[in-house]
Amino acid sequence: MDDKALAVLLGRLTLEQKVALLTGEDFWSLRAVPEIGLRKILVSDGPAGVRGTTWDERDPSLLFPNPTALAATWDPGQVRRAGALMGAQARDKGVAWHLAPNVNLHRSPLGGRHFECYSEDPVLTAVVAAAFVDGVQSAGVASTAKHYIGNESETDRMTYDAEIDAETLREVYLVPFDAVVRAGAWSVMAAYNSVDGVTMTENEPLITGILKDTLGFDGVAVSDWFATRSAAASANAGLDVVMPGPQGPWGEALAAAVGKGEVAETVIDDKVLRLLRLADRTGFLDGADPLPPVTTPDDAAAQLRDIAARAMVVLRNENAGEEPLLPLNPHSVSRVAIIGPNAERLTAQGGGSAHVNPPHIISPLTALTEALGPMVTVEHAEGVVTQRLLPLLTPRTATDPDTGHAGLRVDFIDPAGDVLGSEVRQTSRFVFLGGLPAGTAGIRVRTDVAVADPGNHQFSVSGLGSFRLVIGDNAPMKITLSPTEGADPTEGLVKPPEHRVEVELDPGTVRIEAVVQVDENLPVAMFGLHHGAPGPEADELFEAAVAAARAADVAIVIVGTTDEVESEGFDRTDLKLPGRQDDLVAAVAQANPRTIVVVNAGAPVEMPWRALTPAVLWAWFPGQEGGYAIADALTGAVEPGGRLPTTFPKTAADAPVLATRPVDGKIVYAEGSMFGYRGYAKADIVPAFPFGHGLGYTTWEYEDITAAVTAAGDVELAVRVRNTGARIGREVVQIYLAGEDADQACDPRRLVAFGSTLAAPNEIATVPITIPVRVLARWDRELGVWRVRAGVRELIAARSAWDERLRTRVEMTGS
Ligand code: BGC
Repeated sequence: MDDKALAVLLGRLTLEQKVALLTGEDFWSLRAVPEIGLRKILVSDGPAGVRGTTWDERDPSLLFPNPTALAATWDPGQVRRAGALMGAQARDKGVAWHLAPNVNLHRSPLGGRHFECYSEDPVLTAVVAAAFVDGVQSAGVASTAKHYIGNESETDRMTYDAEIDAETLREVYLVPFDAVVRAGAWSVMAAYNSVDGVTMTENEPLITGILKDTLGFDGVAVSDWFATRSAAASANAGLDVVMPGPQGPWGEALAAAVGKGEVAETVIDDKVLRLLRLADRTGFLDGADPLPPVTTPDDAAAQLRDIAARAMVVLRNENAGEEPLLPLNPHSVSRVAIIGPNAERLTAQGGGSAHVNPPHIISPLTALTEALGPMVTVEHAEGVVTQRLLPLLTPRTATDPDTGHAGLRVDFIDPAGDVLGSEVRQTSRFVFLGGLPAGTAGIRVRTDVAVADPGNHQFSVSGLGSFRLVIGDNAPMKITLSPTEGADPTEGLVKPPEHRVEVELDPGTVRIEAVVQVDENLPVAMFGLHHGAPGPEADELFEAAVAAARAADVAIVIVGTTDEVESEGFDRTDLKLPGRQDDLVAAVAQANPRTIVVVNAGAPVEMPWRALTPAVLWAWFPGQEGGYAIADALTGAVEPGGRLPTTFPKTAADAPVLATRPVDGKIVYAEGSMFGYRGYAKADIVPAFPFGHGLGYTTWEYEDITAAVTAAGDVELAVRVRNTGARIGREVVQIYLAGEDADQACDPRRLVAFGSTLAAPNEIATVPITIPVRVLARWDRELGVWRVRAGVRELIAARSAWDERLRTRVEMTGS
């Protein structure tokens, strides 16, 4: 529908109806207005998949490789493919509006949502984000670029003030938002924090000024959840929709502000028009053009597996004997030790609102055992336990007391204890964000847990709130789990406090009953029930792993972080692998020179053992098919052709920007663009693995580079490369601009474009790459315009920010 037709619909709404439309009806939807043919619009997180409107294992969603992994493909085609799959699943779930991508940058490696963002580089982020948006929206589903802007930290994210100078804002942090608007994004989310003293939901210069007026954004500016604090100020600043609802600062207060003349009705009309445009684009308005007939393809899992394997990065692959240890030929080994906490329990995703409930998670242990085949003896040893919470109950050992079938019985009870509704669940981690039967005052969970071994068993509840816990015949316990002072409101979800109880049990079953109180006015509950059976001591686990490594032909150690280490809601405090994992890798590498390390993490960790082991594969948070993808990458069934989208320092202290904690409420982006590889280069600090690094499984020679400037000022390059190895492979050719003249505060080098090619052994390929002129322009603060300086530019073709191969020069005429 065109704007004229939308305006006719708008004209049929009263002020009250219009204002009511601009706040969510609940956590995940916007109201329907049947009179004008507007249907209820469903909204869903997020960058790891499409969770839908419930947090429930009965409504599973495809779990994708995490966004940093998608960026590591350096392949817009693969990212678009992931976006299109997500869009298809959104359509199947009836979701019109998807809350991704997260295009904030990796300013500090400690950033809690690092795993959820693409890169430390604005150009790579921009290319990847635009491809993602294009993919999602090709299915007729709205993409939301978030969090606009300056949301690079989680500590005190609701209140901190990011101070970003005009050049850095334009040349760095706005670049991805500009790209997604150019790609036609239908929504942008305003962040929690302030920028230059004004909270983002009220930031008129940034929302109306830059986003809408300058970049030409015609979609909906939605608030981050609970981020809006005012009526008139936020409405006048250009914010269009407040989420979630039904309560919120707009509603009647906004209608009253219009009545008092504080907000013009035309301002409200513009917001409603934008929302109707989104409804039209996503097919939620009668009379909208039909959407493409899209549905989740049957091979979706195979596609996720393929994308995840391609995204993995070979950090190191030295000779172990005659040849590099990777790829591993299953026929060359007869006994393999699979070691490490993440071998059986893959961290498939990070924590927070991006979380989705996948249908399954394939563990590396399962997939590798399958890939190695029946002729290979596999010995598994966990080595180290890294989970803070006890394990969740699983339907393997928990049965519903009412039916005797697998699962946990959940009853919703009123204040008198009467049951208002009941269901059986296959998890013991519960998240209810609304959607409870009316009048629910408590949620009761009952289950019979099978006890295999006699001894001291631990049980626990985690979450926030008041609980009553009964274990077997023991007296009921009252437990209150209170929020940690100063913690983010998402604590109950992402890092809940836990209360443990130890009981001595004989083999058999034990009845567990837990009741959590619910506030009728805020029907929200998040809690978990956990059980730890008696097991070996930490030292025994560790020694068993080293012994398994010693007895094997090859040891594969799978280490990593957890969704409690990398999560929304808080920043990391260091870059160390949790628990004794560093010791474990070092001990295993000493016990077996043929040790392969797989790191399962979304953001950099220190790897003090990296020179002790011949092979290191970086696997990211690879999603539900992650185990298979790791097996494919290790055996070479798929080339792990990823390149790092962010710098991996030797130690955290080497990072150009580390602190994420505001000082007096402020985070000053004083480094300008000198973070990530630009910062390391400026300080002359060699990282452990540089931005852009990734070995793949073949070798490349760079033979020639040519460059020419077009009439429009774009630079067209052609880079000739030769595959000098023995396997077919994909090369990512990275083009960096060498430091401009010294009288400007310039980056020592900066990525301006990239391209890739596939080539067989000994094959020569020429990679065409275009640098759009705007990437070479700089922001002139005095004149408030973009300018290209006239003169010579030095361009570098490289395999990483540290691995320069060829140089060329071009002469720019300037503008
Ligand atoms: C996050 C957003 C998310 C929203 C809805 C917020 O806490 O910052 O990224 O989309 O919640 O879950």
